Amino acid sequence: MAIRIIVLAAGKGTRMKSSMPKVLHRLAGKPMLGHVLDTVSTVDPASITVVIGHGSDQVQQTIEHSVNWAMQTEQLGTGHAVQQGLEGIEDDDTVLITYGDVPLTRSATFKGLLDVTNKNQLGLLSLIVDDPSGYGRIKRVDGAVVGVVEQKDANEEELAINEINAGVLAVNGGSLKKYLGEIDNQNAQGEYYLTDIFSLAVKAGQTIQTVHPQDEWEAEGINSREQLAELERVYQHTRAAELMAAGVTVRDPARLDIRGSLSTGTDNEIDVNCVFIGDCSLGNNVSIGPNCVIIDSHIGDGCEIKANCVLEGSQLGSSCIVGPFARLRPGSELANEAKIGNFVETKNATIGLGSKVNHLSYVGDSEVGAKVNIGAGTITANYDGANKHKTVLEDGVSIGSNTVLVAPVTIGADATIGASSTITKAVNAKTLAFTRGDRRDIEGWKRPEKIKK
Ligand code: UD1
Ligand code: MG
Repeated sequence: MAIRIIVLAAGKGTRMKSSMPKVLHRLAGKPMLGHVLDTVSTVDPASITVVIGHGSDQVQQTIEHSVNWAMQTEQLGTGHAVQQGLEGIEDDDTVLITYGDVPLTRSATFKGLLDVTNKNQLGLLSLIVDDPSGYGRIKRVDGAVVGVVEQKDANEEELAINEINAGVLAVNGGSLKKYLGEIDNQNAQGEYYLTDIFSLAVKAGQTIQTVHPQDEWEAEGINSREQLAELERVYQHTRAAELMAAGVTVRDPARLDIRGSLSTGTDNEIDVNCVFIGDCSLGNNVSIGPNCVIIDSHIGDGCEIKANCVLEGSQLGSSCIVGPFARLRPGSELANEAKIGNFVETKNATIGLGSKVNHLSYVGDSEVGAKVNIGAGTITANYDGANKHKTVLEDGVSIGSNTVLVAPVTIGADATIGASSTITKAVNAKTLAFTRGDRRDIEGWKRPEKIKK
């Protein structure tokens, strides 16, 4: 008695007007099919089978989940699609069927359906809606479900029914195989309807138990880019609500995007238009200014990220100040109280306790000690055209403005580099080093004048 999942994803998605299969279009940075597979995985299934057709190669290449793929070369209807995915299903298994273009169904909803399903009862996800058009209608007699009738096959009375089939169902494996063997395509669309199994089940003496999702959007499918955008907002609002419930001030929940996981402490503040991608985490009392993009990074307690910063693969200790307009590239590690100012780029660089890189600098492949001050316009020349080399600035170093540190190079503790220097060799501790051309003054020098034509 195992749980088996079948996900239908063979349809073309014509209304997306895309060369990419519909189920690969991304919601919150992840293909919509990926959301479905993540969620169905939480019900502990023995197998997941995805029925694919249009763009199957692309789907198989993109999706990283371990699933069984079933091919449906011609889209002859949802019933026909499920038939292609029956391999390995035993009679006493429970089969949960859902669609690859309905990305936001909650795990609890799937579990609710599985809970009501047994040998004699099918579980069906239904919804009462104001506008049922387009959906299959749920027919009841004396309160009991007797079948589902598709919009195109419905008579006037049936069209008025506002309880609809969301498309998700659970059924005992033996019953599913039996009923699928009995359905035909004698209907308005000439398709094999999966939904025909319900009336067959009722005729065979089984009952249909409906389950409602907590939220209507759990059952919403994506057919167009407009619907994709709508569900993206629904998803992002839910994420923002979770953050606020966890003690984060979100300046505008409509202007926050989380494309991955964001774990957070309390009393953090996120200003408008921030995007979090991949695995990110925030300590407590973190403030993130407007227009920041944070990718796979950890930001420690009390850090302040000012407006317009991009952080990727970076680790920040506590009480660091970054930005505005700073770019921290992968491998940037800031110790506590470090400061990275405007128009500074760091990459694969550790910046020690309380050290400052305040303006217009590039610090790459570097190890910067504690209490170091790097003046405006400092460049670590880490690349000789073939290989990357390391710059080491020991504790207490002070680098004057407009300095080029040609790596590999080490500047000893408490050394000072005079402004405008090009440093190609190690500098000893506590030493002042500078390279600078002699100054020349040409008195009374005349500026060129414009030649009259
Ligand atoms: C289906 C249901 C309808 C329900 C609605 C909910 C049937 C007959 N009807 O209708 O009762 O209210 O969903 O959204 O099941 N697919 C395949 N192969 C096929 C046909 C479809 O893989 O041959 C996939 C599609 O890619 C899609 C899903 O199945 O993900 C649903 O197909 P769709 O054509 O959208 O069904 P509806 O007509 O909307
Ligand atoms: Mg549909």
